[in-house]
Amino acid sequence: MEFITMKMIEEVIATIRERSSAQPRVGMILGSGLGALANSIEVSDEIPTADLPHWPVSTVEGHAGRLIFGVLEGQNIMVLQGRTHYYEGYSTNQIGLPIRVMKSLGAEFLFVSNAAGAINADFNPGDLMCITDHVNLIGMAGLSPLRGPNLDEYGPRFPDMARAYDWDLIALARQAAQEENILLHEGVYFCLSGPEFETQADLKFVQLAGADAVGMSTVAEVTVARHSGMRVLGLSGITNKTNLDGKTFVSHEKTLAAGETIAPKLAALIAGVLRRI
Ligand code: HPA
Repeated sequence: MEFITMKMIEEVIATIRERSSAQPRVGMILGSGLGALANSIEVSDEIPTADLPHWPVSTVEGHAGRLIFGVLEGQNIMVLQGRTHYYEGYSTNQIGLPIRVMKSLGAEFLFVSNAAGAINADFNPGDLMCITDHVNLIGMAGLSPLRGPNLDEYGPRFPDMARAYDWDLIALARQAAQEENILLHEGVYFCLSGPEFETQADLKFVQLAGADAVGMSTVAEVTVARHSGMRVLGLSGITNKTNLDGKTFVSHEKTLAAGETIAPKLAALIAGVLRRI
């Protein structure tokens, strides 16, 4: 099936409703290494995503993923652990399905995190960046998650993408970072498909396009969230320097190692924003 339909979304919701009556206010998609945050949630319900019809089940993290419903910092949240990426073979429409489901269950907010490589020379492995905007290369190349029949129930055919990352949430993230003494950069996230890391020439292109960080996720989800008016906070954990200098070698193992420094800071920052909304 190329496009996600209302019927498919309704079937997912019906399956979730057999197991949970949760009314989340905030939907979250956690990238690599955010176990620490998931552990502090007062969990009410947990559903393996493999049990859900039509769901794009994660193939990359070694486990299929789960939906967690519960309370964190007094907020009703739902968390998708084990997000999917375009490079796994799913369409961008399929990657957007979890966002549709979050919205239909009541979520007004999407908080999304990812692992990213540094384009900005001031960024170091272990740093955090609050996403202020993105470049949607996959979408520009014709693979928008909104391609196909418009789901009018969620939003208009031609949604605006100005201020896709909510300025008030960015301000709250700044406050939370200051309070927690966390260095928080701000910048533009550039999404390309992967799974291969970039050539040096790719990276020069990305830099010229105005990016501060580069990764392989997030943008499809954010586009779908904005279609339905959800307010988005995006956070990148900078896992590595990139090969802009022609001498830097990147590997998945290196990106995972920095995740351990990033996870507790990201968890503290997200908790700080949750307390403020
Ligand atoms: N490039 C693309 N995606 C990434 C990187 C990178 O250097 N690091 C983590 N995700």
